[in-house]
Amino acid sequence: MKRILLGISGGIAAYKSAELVRLLRKNDYEIRVVMTHAATQFITPLTLQALSGHAVHTQLLDANQENAMGHINLARWAELFLIAPASANCMAKLSLGIADDLLSTLYLAAECPVYIAPAMNQAMWNKPVTQENLKRLAQHKVSVIGPEAGSQACGEVGYGRMTEPSDILAQLNAFHAPQLLLNKKILISAGPTREALDPVRYITNRSSGKMGYALAQQAQLLGAKVTLVSGPVPLATPKNIHTIYVESAAEMYTAVMQQVAGQDIFISAAAVADYTPDKMQTEKIKKQGDITQLSLHKTQDIVASVASLANKPFTVGFAAETDNLEHYALDKLQRKNLDMIAANWVGQAEGGFDSAYNALQVYWQNGQKTLTMTNKTQLANQLLTLIAERLDA
Ligand code: C5P
Repeated sequence: MKRILLGISGGIAAYKSAELVRLLRKNDYEIRVVMTHAATQFITPLTLQALSGHAVHTQLLDANQENAMGHINLARWAELFLIAPASANCMAKLSLGIADDLLSTLYLAAECPVYIAPAMNQAMWNKPVTQENLKRLAQHKVSVIGPEAGSQACGEVGYGRMTEPSDILAQLNAFHAPQLLLNKKILISAGPTREALDPVRYITNRSSGKMGYALAQQAQLLGAKVTLVSGPVPLATPKNIHTIYVESAAEMYTAVMQQVAGQDIFISAAAVADYTPDKMQTEKIKKQGDITQLSLHKTQDIVASVASLANKPFTVGFAAETDNLEHYALDKLQRKNLDMIAANWVGQAEGGFDSAYNALQVYWQNGQKTLTMTNKTQLANQLLTLIAERLDA
């Protein structure tokens, strides 16, 4: 499905639509843009024309545009209608079938699937009437992307931010993807662990949790039933995903082992601490002389424990390496009895732990695949596609 009609309604998030058009084109989508009058106050049609490569439609009753491509033709042309941002007013009109401008008329005329990415002030989003409109749109089979929580242009914090263009793209890609993991049960670990030295100090690592969270969200979009076991990360709890929070490697071990029965797939994306202090001091360690030694012992290897179960799920490990990537990855694949390992470089300028981007070298018995540098949402999608393929094989 490659022909997208993009509707832009009036809101500050309209500036993100420029990036959205650029990304969609880069991914081989053909775009036609329709803007409401209010949207043109936030971003010029000329910008969208330059980025989409086609004249932008703004008028319902414009003799020239009707000649070029009337609204019925435009609606027929589209294989998918995406409205991003969808303002509160736009949602209200669509939910009631009010057609008083080109965008809302196209919605009525469109027979293709419709997606909206709402964006508005958090109070407007939470207003019962907006939530009722949302419910009505869902009943009318409109798919909703976002909105996300966070700080807003108006200075407030809450739900109402438009989903980032790269995530909208990933969701569209996933919506089109066959439900590769339909009804598969998938357990994913994410983030770092914290190994306490005393009540205030701990040993941890640079894992951001972004990869594991992206895997959880994408797996859900591909139809899977997801359980996420998360170490401490500054990421929002994923919507509608059963998320269990843990702190230490030992807690993560317990949570994973409690959840693993009946799972089809386990992806160990967490950067589990390999070592933990022999003893956690119950009182804060006082600053005295130098501490020349810390006594640590190895933690239990969670992914290896899962892979040694009699009824093991398809088990995927990660290997973050600063050197000899292939050698260490293949060693872990064998030694931990994994079905697949996703290896990546860390400590480089781009990609890795803290970044929104990454590249992966994936290995399994008698096979490998390179997933080149991209955002973690896309990468998660590609890795899950590969897992689904191997699962079938
Ligand atoms: O051996 P190493 O820590 O490099 O292997 C990384 C893989 O093993 C990752 O998938 C990580 O989640 C997993 N792991 C684990 N339990 C540990 C250490 C690592 O599950 N205690």
